Amino acid sequence: MSSKKNKTSFVCSNCGYISPKWLGKCPDCAQWDSFTEELQNKSNTGYKKFLEKARPLSLSSVVSGNETRIKTSIEEFDRVLGGGIVYGSLVLIGGDPGIGKSTLMLQAASSLTALGKKVLYVSGEESASQIKLRSERLESSGGILVLPETSLEIVIALALEEKPDVLIIDSVQTLFSEEIGSAPGSLSQVREAAVKFMEFSKKQGIPTFLVGHVTKEGTIAGPRVLEHMVDTVLYFEGDPGKFYRILRAVKNRFGSTNEIGLFEMKERGLFGISNPSSAFLSERPVNVPGSAVTATMEGTRPILIEIQGLVSNSGFGGPPRRTVVGIDQNRLALIIAVMEKKVGLHFSDHDVFVNVVGGVRVSEPASDLAVAASIASSFFDSPVQGEMIVLGEIGLTGEIRGVTNQEKRIIEAEKMGFKKFILPESSTIKGDFKGVEIITASNLSKAMDLIFQ
Ligand code: TYD
Ligand code: MG
Repeated sequence: MSSKKNKTSFVCSNCGYISPKWLGKCPDCAQWDSFTEELQNKSNTGYKKFLEKARPLSLSSVVSGNETRIKTSIEEFDRVLGGGIVYGSLVLIGGDPGIGKSTLMLQAASSLTALGKKVLYVSGEESASQIKLRSERLESSGGILVLPETSLEIVIALALEEKPDVLIIDSVQTLFSEEIGSAPGSLSQVREAAVKFMEFSKKQGIPTFLVGHVTKEGTIAGPRVLEHMVDTVLYFEGDPGKFYRILRAVKNRFGSTNEIGLFEMKERGLFGISNPSSAFLSERPVNVPGSAVTATMEGTRPILIEIQGLVSNSGFGGPPRRTVVGIDQNRLALIIAVMEKKVGLHFSDHDVFVNVVGGVRVSEPASDLAVAASIASSFFDSPVQGEMIVLGEIGLTGEIRGVTNQEKRIIEAEKMGFKKFILPESSTIKGDFKGVEIITASNLSKAMDLIFQ
């Protein structure tokens, strides 16, 4: 007796791990409660038909030069894309709900339309009149073609007919393919949509943007499962309560992943921040303990950022708290350990908090010294001098290690009115340089003496 029962499997909506039975915790990505039951589809036979059509080409017969780009003229957006939109590329834009993905896409669409491009904006979340309202608020061009639709088949059919210059899908999680049994937003649906749009963009040469919401609960398949399928992955980040938004490339087949785009969310949409250093330092308290400024490299641009530290007595019982926003937790643990062992400061009965101001995330070890300075400043209750920049990576033996692009960073800081620099001993720039004073330190203890003399 053959069972006709449909085969199901359990899929982690965070990373795509497949298990024959339900699991509480994903063995691959360690996410809890992320498994959803999905019908196994017949995609293996489905792919065969693509193979029949495909033929390998000899590389010498391929005409190069068709990787030209469409510029949106939104400078911060074009930069993150690597200099504009590449024909035939599939780009994923991920981010928390409400961060501004739809706003960014609509503004890009508007800008492209004003440049004479045909843009098809598919929205599965908003009606045509809601999109119209938003576009009026953004004072955007009326020429954008909008399609409120959630059927994957209809969207593809229409896109094939309309042949726009750019296609935008907002969001990929709202689309629903009739061929797949599971619910919209499930892993197989989202994956199917990505496969179809990849085929569409490559064959038609039409760049396609997929907007994807990031959800913590894992009830909707996250953009992470699509990352490996698309050409470019951009994440739109920032604190929804604050105005700064950062567009970051985490994968880009057509450009660097170091560049970031900076925007400010205003009443009438997103505006590029042309002078990020002044924006990030605008509310900086001067001569207040617990604040230090450093110059970090974001791609090719130096940006000045403020790092704040707070050290307070921890209550009795339980381990002291170490809380960070904007830097790696392990990095903080390392810096505190070196401060304890090499400078003789003791934090075992103190809570330590570190925050990078403006919602920026700093991954460069060059900011270590500024983190240490902000913590020590709060601990000593003594401010870091207002016109001082500290730069350097802290090594485990307490040494201050060199940083790259020193000159670029110094010039940016000098423009912003900073006059004094604490740099690693290995620095080739010393003494007087372009009107600023440069002092070097070989280890953390010496650096602390210089900062708090
Ligand atoms: P939205 O683009 O809808 O976010 P997402 O698509 O990522 O979910 O952005 C929504 C937020 O942005 C909402 O809180 C309102 C705010 N906003 C502005 O502040 N100014 C504007 O001009 C627009 C259109 C939105
Ligand atoms: Mg949206």
